[in-house]
Amino acid sequence: MTTRHIEGPVALSGRSVLLREFTLADLDGVRGLVGDDRVTHFLSFTARSEEQSRELLRTIVEEARRRPRTEYYLAVTPQEQVDPTGSDKVVGITRLQRTHPHSGRLVYAIAHAYQGRGYARDAVRTVLDFAFGQLGLHRVTAAVGPDNRAGLALVERVGFTREGVLRDHVHTNGAWRDSVLYSMLAPEWRTAREA
Ligand SMILES: CC(C)(COP(=O)(O)OP(=O)(O)OC[C@H]1O[C@@H](n2cnc3c(N)ncnc32)[C@H](O)[C@@H]1OP(=O)(O)O)[C@@H](O)C(=O)NCCC(=O)NCCS
Repeated sequence: MTTRHIEGPVALSGRSVLLREFTLADLDGVRGLVGDDRVTHFLSFTARSEEQSRELLRTIVEEARRRPRTEYYLAVTPQEQVDPTGSDKVVGITRLQRTHPHSGRLVYAIAHAYQGRGYARDAVRTVLDFAFGQLGLHRVTAAVGPDNRAGLALVERVGFTREGVLRDHVHTNGAWRDSVLYSMLAPEWRTAREA
């Protein structure tokens, strides 16, 4: 079974979004995601300050240079012009963490103002193409809070399979929270991507 590592910067093209590496110039975009309670409430941390967001961005950029690379944080940018600052605006993030040579864990988020436009669906599909294609992974998982209607709808829509409940999986917003574990396997993706 062949798995691969990608040496150069990653740039992926979906139907409505482009996924690219973060740069230190993306602080506003990162803040729009990890600095907003409406987004982080469903992730496993509370909203980050400007300084914390800057630190996270530094980590993201450093992780992208590490070899062998295990972290693929990618900036989601729309292909269409969404505002006067240009189409390269960061409206979301995907994080594919290679947890094992053959497996990865996926996290995704779209800034509140840009939700409901199909960006997450396109971004997740594009990352799965990358994970099962270029990286040669066999299994990708996503863990979603049981009350996260949008997060659950997305993985179901893309064709992930529900595996079960991870009890008290994360400590977030002051309490332990279960997660619903979903997975996609490489042969399933070859079928699901056509749907
Ligand atoms: C989950 C999230 C990424 C969805 O982003 P989005 O860009 O609005 O999603 P999309 O527009 O691509 O919608 C994808 C599907 O989910 C459905 N969906 C989206 N929001 C929904 C909601 N609140 N309730 C029910 N279904 C919803 C859409 O109808 C769509 O299905 P369709 O293709 O059949 O129409 C976004 O709400 C978010 O960032 N939430 C906070 C972070 C998070 O929860 N991440 C997931 C855990 S890792």
